[in-house]
Amino acid sequence: MTYLNQPPIINIMEKAARKASKKLIRDFGELEKLQVSSKSLGNFVTNADIRTEKILKEDLQYYYPDYSFIMEESNDIKGKDKENVFIIDPIDGTSNFIHGIPQFCIAIAKLSLNEISDGIIFNPISNEFYWASKGKGSWLNNQRLRVSNRNKLEQCIIGATSIEKDKNFINKSTFLKDHSTSFRAFGSAALDLAFVASGKLDAFWGNDLNIWDIASGIILVLEAGGTVTTSDLNKWDISSRNIIASNSHIHNKITKI
Ligand code: IPD
Ligand code: CA
Ligand code: CA
Repeated sequence: MTYLNQPPIINIMEKAARKASKKLIRDFGELEKLQVSSKSLGNFVTNADIRTEKILKEDLQYYYPDYSFIMEESNDIKGKDKENVFIIDPIDGTSNFIHGIPQFCIAIAKLSLNEISDGIIFNPISNEFYWASKGKGSWLNNQRLRVSNRNKLEQCIIGATSIEKDKNFINKSTFLKDHSTSFRAFGSAALDLAFVASGKLDAFWGNDLNIWDIASGIILVLEAGGTVTTSDLNKWDISSRNIIASNSHIHNKITKI
């Protein structure tokens, strides 16, 4: 569906994501037929990830044949145009997908001269289509998004991938002992960032992530009025694997801790 001020590139990303999601929705309903293999301990890939990525890549390449690509499941493509790069995570939240939990998405971002210019995040099960373009705001379907207004940490909910990865996180965290802030680990970094952009989560704290997990979510948060830095408060750049994204009121408080 095209919305009023949607730039052409978002339109094309949306068409590709909706096309690829048709088979994904079918697979989600027939999970027993999925072939699952393990890339490393706890890091799974399914035939659905690989097929979805192929559909997305081919569709985007049809419209932008010269662009370069960074993709989770295949080798990078260095196109004639090296300044414009598509970044694809075909399924963010594969573990949820395999378990029949409807918290996963297709995430596509576009870099222009190493800056994120556009991003989409699509949850095909809830039919939630998030998009953002530099200077054009963040949107969920046709609704403009803003980060939350909360500034008291005890009233905040923070998405944290550390909880998924580090079983001792809660014991080790002095943050948790000193504040009654709530944490959630929903299993999709991209959707967590979309939740920050839409004010559902107040912050997201992610460690050891790849650019395809976070690029589209970062532009969503920034265009929704939020702040994104690396954990040591530096400006995020494409080599950073650890990020903090939040509404601007609580950003300093969280990074201090
Ligand atoms: C994973 C999810 C998860 C994060 C992992 C990622 P995948 O992506 O974003 O929330 O904690 O680090 O690898 O494997 O489902 O695309
Ligand atoms: Ca991912
Ligand atoms: Ca993935």
